[in-house]
Formats: sequence, C-alpha cells, structure tokens
Amino acid sequence: MTKLHYIRNKDCNMKEGLKLNKGKLIAQGKTSEVFEYGQDKILKLFRKDLPEKNIENEYEVSFNLSKKMKLVPKVYDLVEVDDRKGIIYEKVNGTTMMEVISSKPWKVKKEAQRLAELHEAIQKPVDFELPDYKTTLKENISKTELLEEDIKKRLYDYIDELKDDDLLCHGDFHPDNVLITEEGEVIIDWMTASKGSRIADIARTSVMLKFGASPVKRSAEKKIIKFVRNRFYSGYIKHYMKITGINKEQIEEWELPIAAARLNEWLPKSEKVDLLKFIDMKMK
Ligand SMILES: Nc1ncnc2c1ncn2[C@@H]1O[C@H](COP(=O)(O)OP(=O)(O)OP(=O)(O)O)[C@@H](O)[C@H]1O
Ligand SMILES: [Mg+2]
Repeated sequence: MTKLHYIRNKDCNMKEGLKLNKGKLIAQGKTSEVFEYGQDKILKLFRKDLPEKNIENEYEVSFNLSKKMKLVPKVYDLVEVDDRKGIIYEKVNGTTMMEVISSKPWKVKKEAQRLAELHEAIQKPVDFELPDYKTTLKENISKTELLEEDIKKRLYDYIDELKDDDLLCHGDFHPDNVLITEEGEVIIDWMTASKGSRIADIARTSVMLKFGASPVKRSAEKKIIKFVRNRFYSGYIKHYMKITGINKEQIEEWELPIAAARLNEWLPKSEKVDLLKFIDMKMK
C-alpha cells in the first residue's frame, strides 16, 4: 500500500491521504515511471530530481488542452506518492507510433506522414499561460557546461533574430509520444510545451531524428535502425513542408539553437558529441 496525497483535486472527489495501490509498472520514460492505476487510469510518477516547475507545467498544459482537444488524454490529479510527484491520466489503450514503426517497418512512410499531420494539427494559438519557447531555449543553453560563454552569448543573439510566433509547441514531439488507438491518435508528454514558432518545434523533431543515438549496440541492427529512421525523418519533413508550404531553410535556421539546448538534456554521450560537432560546424 502506498500513501497517496492529492495536491490538486479538480475532477475527482477522492480524499487527501487515501491509501491506494500503485499497480503494475507498464512503461518507463526518461523522466518517469508509468503505473497502472485502477482499470482505466495510469499514474505517471516522476523522478525525484525533476524540477517541480516542469511537472506543474505538464499538469497545467495537459489539463487545459484535454478540455479542448481529443488528441490529449484526460487528466485527473496532481499527486504525491512516496515523496515523488505524479499525475493521474486516463489510460490510453494503444501502442506508441515508435512500436508500430519497429514492428511494421513497411508502414514507416505512412506513419511519418501521420506524425507531420498531427504536428501541424496542434500548432494553434492557445488561450492559457505557457512558457515562451525562445526563453526556454536560452535557459537550457545557459545551463549546459559543454559550451563556452562567448558561444552562448552568440547563440542568444542568434535566437533573438529568429522570427517568432505565438503558437502551441509540444517541445518533445516524436513517435514515442504518440499513442495509436482504434479510435485515433493521442499525444502525450506535454511537460516541455510552450508557445512560440511552430518551425522551432519542427526543428526540434528534426534534430532528434537526425542525431538520436541508436538504442542497440550490434552494428547490423544499428544499420537497419538508421535506415528506417532516415526514411522516417525524410517522410516526416517532406510531408510537413508539403502541407504547410514551409521550406527546409526555414527549418534549418532553428536547428542550431535547438541542438545547443539539447546539450542540457539526459542524452547518451555519443549523441552529445554529434550535437557538438554540428554546433561547431554551424557556428563557423
Ligand atoms: N495515458 C497513458 N496511457 C497509456 N500509456 C501511457 C500513458 N502515458 C504514458 N504512457 C506510456 O508510458 C510511456 C512514457 O510516458 P511519457 O512519454 O509521458 O513519459 P516520460 O518519462 O516523459 O518519457 P520521455 O521523457 O522518455 O519521453 C509512454 O511511451 C507510454 O508507453
Ligand atoms: Mg515520452
């Protein structure tokens, strides 16, 4: 039995301090563990060292969006379990887009186009408070120890020059954060959502797909994964450019600061080395 403390109780009437079972661990992400929670809910329990501000942002954004968009799972509560913060969500019965691509690689083009369409579909104005994309980028760049101060300063000036906007950006839009169900798609993991240029959000997905380190060690498997990933990347970008009229140069402009900000994330060393080479080449 686990002590569960309700911090906020918007849509449900449970009492503070109720004792409940966490249920089976069903998935693990970089920032959390995800447990079953009753029949039709899940508990996303965050790592202890994650800043509270990020968890609150995920809760607020998911809560606000789920009221407007079918694409976002219902949000029930912000809770505390065993000294860790968590969010209770509606359980989505589906598979991640990543699992679909890995198990049925012949579907890669169709899924890449689906990702582009979903990305375009969320890029709308919002009527609630959200962090600012450019400010968040600068904050993340300021925190990395892998860049010299003068490089950081040049990056801040570069960011200031980029054309801004006021649209909803997911901040971590990739095939592991899209669940495919019989009723349609659901987009999860809104912790890094902000408002800004939609091209910035596309550039982030682009940088993730181009530089993402392979999860496997064997070289033959690595090659296959790289091949599938490249096809996925090009299918996604081409389709997004086709439906929006945005061109490759516009996307590439944002890739430099996005790559620099990613140095502040929990990434494998090899990926950081590749990002640094890219930043170095672009800065020249
Ligand atoms: N509402 C949900 N219903 C069903 N499964 C879910 C739900 N939310 C998350 N999951 C499962 O848990 C996994 C991790 O969730 P999520 O992406 O939100 O966590 P995370 O720790 O932020 O991940 P990362 O930072 O690695 O992207 C998902 O890929 C999915 O398999
Ligand atoms: Mg995720």
